[in-house]
Amino acid sequence: MVEVTYLGHSGFTFKTGKYTLVIDPFLTGNPSAVNTPADIQPDYILVTHGHTDHLGDALQLAAANNAVIIAPHELAQFCASRGAAIHSMHIGGSFGFPFGRVKLTTALHGSAFIDDEGITYTGNPVGFLLELPGCVVYHAGDTGLFSDMKMIGDAGTIDLALLPIGDNFTMGPDDALIAAGWLHPGLVVPMHYNTFEVIEQDPHDFVSRLAVAGIAGRVMTPGETFSL
Ligand code: NI
Ligand code: MN
Repeated sequence: MVEVTYLGHSGFTFKTGKYTLVIDPFLTGNPSAVNTPADIQPDYILVTHGHTDHLGDALQLAAANNAVIIAPHELAQFCASRGAAIHSMHIGGSFGFPFGRVKLTTALHGSAFIDDEGITYTGNPVGFLLELPGCVVYHAGDTGLFSDMKMIGDAGTIDLALLPIGDNFTMGPDDALIAAGWLHPGLVVPMHYNTFEVIEQDPHDFVSRLAVAGIAGRVMTPGETFSL
C-alpha cells in the first residue's frame, strides 16, 4: 500500500511504509501549498526538470534529510554541484531502488535553472514511471501531448496517472483527456493548474469529462492524502 499526498502544483509525496519519496517539491513560494518543507522528511527526491516550480525546495530538503535526488543526468549534476547526494539517470533507463523501480520517460518541455544570476540549462525534462509496492504510478512532469504515451500505456498497467492540465506551459485539459485515453490508467489526478493565473483551469470539469470517457479521475486539494 502507498499513501499519496498532493502538495499542490506538480508535487506529490509517496509513503511506502518504509520510505518516503517526493516528486517536484515546490513548497516555498508556491501560493497553493499548505505544507512547509519541514512537513515532509523524504528519503528520495525525484525532480522532473530544472524549472523552479519543480526543483523547488529539493536542494534544501536533500540537505535537511540526507535524501538522495533522483533526476535526469544534467539536472542531477547541477544538484551535485550545489552539494546534494544524487542518483543520475536518463530517458528510457530504469533502476531498482530500495523503495521500487524508477523509469525515466520522455517529456516535451524545457529544462533550466533560472535565477538572478542568469540561466543554467539542465538537459532534457522527464516524466517518471514508478513501480511501487502494489502499484504503478506515472508522473508525466511538464509536457505537451506526445504519441509515445500510447506506448507507455500499453507497456503495462498504470494504477495512477498524474497529468498536467494547466495549458500554456503544458498540456491543457483537451490534450490531457487524449493522454488519459492512451494511458488508460486506473485513476487520473490532474496537476499543474491554478498555481498561477496563466494556468487557471477547472479540474472538476476535467474529471467530469474523464468520467464521460469511462476513466476515473480525482481532484486532490493540496495537503490531501489517499491510499493506493
Ligand atoms: Ni516547467
Ligand atoms: Mn512547471
